[in-house]
Amino acid sequence: MLGFSTRTSGDLVADRRYAYGDAAFGERDFSAARDLFEQTLELVPHWPPARFALAKALIELGEPDAARAALAAVIAADPADSLGAGLLIARLDGGEPVAAAMPDAYVAGLFDDYAPRFDAHLVEALGYRAPALIAAMIANHTPNAALRDALDLGCGTGLMARALEGQGISFAGCDLSARMLEIAHRTGLYARLARAPLLDFLRAEPPASVDLVIAADVFCYVPDLAPVFAETARVLRPGGAFAFSAQRMKADDPAGAGVVIGADARVHHAPRRIRDWAASAGLAVIAEDHASTRLDRGQPMPGALFLLAKP
Ligand SMILES: C[S@@+](CC[C@H](N)C(=O)[O-])C[C@H]1O[C@@H](n2cnc3c(N)ncnc32)[C@H](O)[C@@H]1O
Repeated sequence: MLGFSTRTSGDLVADRRYAYGDAAFGERDFSAARDLFEQTLELVPHWPPARFALAKALIELGEPDAARAALAAVIAADPADSLGAGLLIARLDGGEPVAAAMPDAYVAGLFDDYAPRFDAHLVEALGYRAPALIAAMIANHTPNAALRDALDLGCGTGLMARALEGQGISFAGCDLSARMLEIAHRTGLYARLARAPLLDFLRAEPPASVDLVIAADVFCYVPDLAPVFAETARVLRPGGAFAFSAQRMKADDPAGAGVVIGADARVHHAPRRIRDWAASAGLAVIAEDHASTRLDRGQPMPGALFLLAKP
């Protein structure tokens, strides 16, 4: 299934055609899915979900040029790209991921939909443990640090603040998803929460104002970390720490960009590229662990955990 059956075009007949197409796609009958999405578009030609679904069927049918044209039409109709059409184009082109491939509206939509079941699904079904591993890394490597203020980038439902609860840290968090933020707010653990892209959030913080910056399972939505590292270095006090997880590239290409968008529609980073960004921002690598932070289709997902420090 494409997962968009709950969307409505405003035309009941078109919605039914679309739902049949979605079911056919789920059964891997991509020819039938294409026909049904085309029939949907005859009724509602300007409805982006149907054109996006048609593009996905065309990809499965081995028609990349037609898929690319359909995806371009989706972006023309929805410039915020809330469906992530740019992401599919980037994958079709097999090229460098561009920032536009992970539009804010797409990530916000993804997590607004996911928010109500996020904690149960991720923690219980997928064994998510990035917050626990990050908390352990901080405790092991900065045992005597006085951590007063922390920024939680992409705080989601607040699992990171929960993992560090009781240590007297004052948290400020940001996230793109309003629904994730509502749940974080209910934890009562955040002094401040902002609905904002993490780079904008960092840029609005005063220099040398926090002891800790955290990003748990967030950089898999942020291809270019150079400006994030530079802004983090700016907001940290001397001696402050930057702790985060990343999804690790399965096979590093030493001469390549060290950043790819995987078939799982997430950004994978090469640890060497992360170390380069750290060095450019003037941050020292205190710890680097290669560990899985959750399951992906039953297998441990390759992950990396980093603890950087501002000298
Ligand atoms: C997998 S969740 C992790 C949430 C939380 N850090 C945790 O460990 O439970 C990723 C979160 O990052 C947020 N996110 C992704 N890209 C973002 C960006 N550029 N700016 C702010 N938040 C972002 C998403 O909305 C989502 O809530």
